[in-house]
Amino acid sequence: MPIGKDIQYAAELLKKGEVVAIPTETVYGLAGNAFNKVTVAKIFAIKNRPAFNPLIVHIKHIEDLNIVAQNIDDRLILLMKKFSPGPLTILVEKKSIVPDIVTAGSSRVAVRIPAHPMTLSLLNLLDFPLAAPSANPFQYISPVTAQQVEEQLGDKIPYILDGGKCSVGLESTIVGIEGYDVVVYRLGGLPVEDIKNIVGNVVIKTKLDNQNVETPGQLKKHYAPKKPLFLGNSKELLHQYADKKMAWITFGKVENASENVQIFNLSEKGDIYEAASNLFEALYFIDQSDVEIIIADTFPEEGLGRAINDRLKRAAVQ
Ligand code: TXA
Ligand code: MG
Repeated sequence: MPIGKDIQYAAELLKKGEVVAIPTETVYGLAGNAFNKVTVAKIFAIKNRPAFNPLIVHIKHIEDLNIVAQNIDDRLILLMKKFSPGPLTILVEKKSIVPDIVTAGSSRVAVRIPAHPMTLSLLNLLDFPLAAPSANPFQYISPVTAQQVEEQLGDKIPYILDGGKCSVGLESTIVGIEGYDVVVYRLGGLPVEDIKNIVGNVVIKTKLDNQNVETPGQLKKHYAPKKPLFLGNSKELLHQYADKKMAWITFGKVENASENVQIFNLSEKGDIYEAASNLFEALYFIDQSDVEIIIADTFPEEGLGRAINDRLKRAAVQ
């Protein structure tokens, strides 16, 4: 399957209504013309994604917001001005130009400006925004390299635009308004603390049960590797599963472990941004190795640590 850096070619395919994998700073996306219902239906089919799970619309510039959305709360505009292009998605009232299939029938559309030079150049060649979910089969781990996209979906799409490894490595943070509250629906690459700094208090609504799911990214089982993952205190887990061949996902300074344990240190120097950028790559790698189980330390519940814990909880055996 062709992987390449030909932005012009990607644009031609997209103009013809094809679906192309694109790099972003968060994870790779499976992109198509957001205004073309048939193309959007193709995206759902390729991902094997249920139709109730809406897609994010990617635009090139904040000025394009009013093409797809209206009546946007000032605080969301402020956040966009501050953090876009970047790992922020806002949920806003949609205009009728956005087909219902994109939003799964909702009156709100999710919009973001990806911070990747190739994809911004690509958007500049198009006169439509790109609907793009993460480029993984439904409920699997989001890809952070073009090669991972190829392994997962390579036989289903005509082109993968290769922009290297995603720098953030976690999906965007999704923010909307309910009543007067600023609500975070998905913890992601933009830390909640950064959002609070701009808009004051926020309500976090990223449920870990399957009750009252408002955005389907809140589904309890999500981002899951095929191997069983246990999350908690590594000392206890290492002891409990001492008879298993295991991968240990950790961070910062760690002691050596016994022979049955392969250590995946996401950031030896304890940098949470570096750890986030290495998480999905480690999970992919481990899933293809011969380990029997994965154990992971809970990360400090602050900054990007929250988003990492969120992904690990959803990936874990429940
Ligand atoms: O970083 C990202 O956001 C990546 C890159 C490719 O941009 N995209 C991504 O898309 O993670 P996806 O489809 O895997 O996750 C989008 C999440 C889903 O949980 C979906 O339910 C939620 O956004 N979402 C999208 N549109 C929505 C809407 N209109 N209302 C509520 N939730 C929405
Ligand atoms: Mg996804």
